[in-house]
Amino acid sequence: MNIGKIGVIGGGLMGNGIAHAAVASGFEVTLVDAFEAALKKALATIDKNMERQVIKGAMTEDEKAATLKRLSSSTDYRQLRGADIIIEAVPENLDIKKSIYKELQEVMGPETILASNTSSISITELGACSGRPDKFIGMHFFNPVPVMKLVEVIRGLATSDTTYQTICALAEKLGKTTATAQDSPGFIVNRILCPMINEAIFALSEGVGDVLSIDTGMKLGASHPMGPLTLADFVGLDTLLSVMRVMHADLGEDKYRPAPLLIKLVNAGWLGHKSGRGFYDYSTTPPKPTL
Ligand code: CAA
Ligand code: NAD
Repeated sequence: MNIGKIGVIGGGLMGNGIAHAAVASGFEVTLVDAFEAALKKALATIDKNMERQVIKGAMTEDEKAATLKRLSSSTDYRQLRGADIIIEAVPENLDIKKSIYKELQEVMGPETILASNTSSISITELGACSGRPDKFIGMHFFNPVPVMKLVEVIRGLATSDTTYQTICALAEKLGKTTATAQDSPGFIVNRILCPMINEAIFALSEGVGDVLSIDTGMKLGASHPMGPLTLADFVGLDTLLSVMRVMHADLGEDKYRPAPLLIKLVNAGWLGHKSGRGFYDYSTTPPKPTL
């Protein structure tokens, strides 16, 4: 199947990155978010990230303007009519995703592929709620999308070969490398990465090290580009908690139990970078540890 027009739902951290990568690769993109303010922020972020490329000489101002012309945005799902594929990137919550799939029934054409960027929720279960399980698939991008090279592709029980092949080809056109994962909680990368971050939070709460020591330890001692607590703030503590909860519930083992300190921070509304405060306070440069 030939993909020309892409719809993206959710203009947060991931959705704006997916829209950026897709327009930069020549696709027509419509970005939909429930909130006007979220769309405004998403468009400003895409503009800022493309401007970085202009400053570096990787793109001219004219090329940037031509690229941004391929991007439209709306709070109205009907603007997604005519999309060959819709990539959903709304919060990691089964009920929110399900309700959106219901609303999409009226706007999707018979051949439209629906892909979820979920970090952990079962693709088979989401596919069963999508009204088109054969054309439903997991297309898991990584943050920051314009930079990270991987797309994890996850087939649900009913995903067709054509859908799988179309998505692998699309990921390649976006300049990404694919890794195919089974439909298992957390798939490959988060199954391994999120317990490591969660363990860093347990270590912090047990006083094994303070925030800076844990991050410096893993950056310099294990050559990670970001310390685990910085990475937790970068991913979003709400998203990290949702992933740990899905793995804990669905794999049924206590090694996936979310750290109580993680739950406490999310309950406080300290969601990391996106809310201005998590393990670090982002109102200062450099950010200062909060705990
Ligand atoms: N958006 C777009 N581009 C960005 C960016 C962003 N948010 N942040 C950085 N960049 C670009 C910069 O423009 C720069 O581009 P060039 O190389 O072309 O100049 C490049 O990325 C490197 O940026 P910096 O030199 O400023 O910063 P850095 O070297 O410290 O790298 C980083 C930044 C790429 C984010 C790096 O710190 C990193 O790889 N961190 C770990 C990210 C990671 O693990 N992501 C996965 C999270 S888990 C996930 O996504 C799955 C899930 O379901 C939760
Ligand atoms: P986010 O909170 O940054 O953004 C979510 C966006 O969805 C917001 O702009 C919000 O306004 C919008 N939204 C909420 N309800 C909506 C609705 N009913 N209709 C349309 N838009 C709605 O979240 P995020 O970090 O971008 O995560 C999105 C998805 O991507 C989640 O499933 C998450 O697990 C997954 N993911 C996240 C990361 C990460 O590092 N944060 C990485 C890979 C995958």
